[in-house]
Amino acid sequence: MKPIILDVDTGIDDALAISYAVNSPELELLGVTTCFGNVTVQEATRNTLLVLEHLDSSLPVIPGAAKPFFVSRVKASAVHIHGRDGMGNTLSDGKLPKREASSQYAPQFIIDQVRSRPHQVTIITVAAMTNLALAIMQAPDIVNLVDNVIVMGGAVTRAGNATPHAEANIYADPEAADYVFASGIPITLVGLDVTMETLLPKKDVEVWRDKQTTLGDLMADMTDFYIDAYEDFYPGIGGCGLHDPLAVGVAIHPDFVTTSPMHVRVDLEGFHTLGRTVGDLRSKPANQPNMQVCLQVDADRFLKHFLSRVV
Ligand code: RIB
Ligand code: CA
Repeated sequence: MKPIILDVDTGIDDALAISYAVNSPELELLGVTTCFGNVTVQEATRNTLLVLEHLDSSLPVIPGAAKPFFVSRVKASAVHIHGRDGMGNTLSDGKLPKREASSQYAPQFIIDQVRSRPHQVTIITVAAMTNLALAIMQAPDIVNLVDNVIVMGGAVTRAGNATPHAEANIYADPEAADYVFASGIPITLVGLDVTMETLLPKKDVEVWRDKQTTLGDLMADMTDFYIDAYEDFYPGIGGCGLHDPLAVGVAIHPDFVTTSPMHVRVDLEGFHTLGRTVGDLRSKPANQPNMQVCLQVDADRFLKHFLSRVV
């Protein structure tokens, strides 16, 4: 089993990723850390606890950053994609989880777990990269102690989603992402380059509803909202991008994707290009690669695997 820390901003596709990870015996989830992003960190923590409740899981949920690492900017709202509550408007007013989050702080949890299992832990970030940046700033030794960091973020070879060039997780905290990219920590980048190839259509979601379980109903209601939002955003697309689940999939089966070593940094200044992940695609790049970038995905195989486990 691969020891995993999953860092989320739950979020509909985060909820799907959590369920997929919890139901995957190859992964030993050490805890789920939360960050601002799709919603506030308090809402992300609440949503994560509620999803885990539906999964009968008592995994620790560790709250993290409420704001960006270095500079606070006005952020694009995710209400149109994830709903007012981050769960596709499925939560009744005042709905609270039965248990409380951990009193630890996510960056410290990351440091402690990585140090206690040298060269074993994989961190999967599917939110702004603030918690990991804070952890590295406080404990730079963890850079050489993790097994890998799988990042859902960026768009190296295609358009962004938060802006024409920037993907939402990177745009939420560009300085944090760039700090992590420059730190020397091993990274696999699961960006829109591949996640926009893994589309989940409505017909597959109906099967979850047919199961007549509270988990199936919740996931189906949320995901229907998400698919409708995608249809509004990308008319004719026929499904929603399984961004965060693919990052989990890559942890389970790295061969779902084909990667290329590359030097990638984040644009921190561009008026029109803030948060863009700039990969050096030249035949003779100026710098050594700092990550493996996923450029192709076996979408059918991944989708089958995901659907066999998520609900
Ligand atoms: O760009 C997709 C990413 O942004 C996903 O992680 C989604 O949950 C949002 O955070
Ligand atoms: Ca997310």
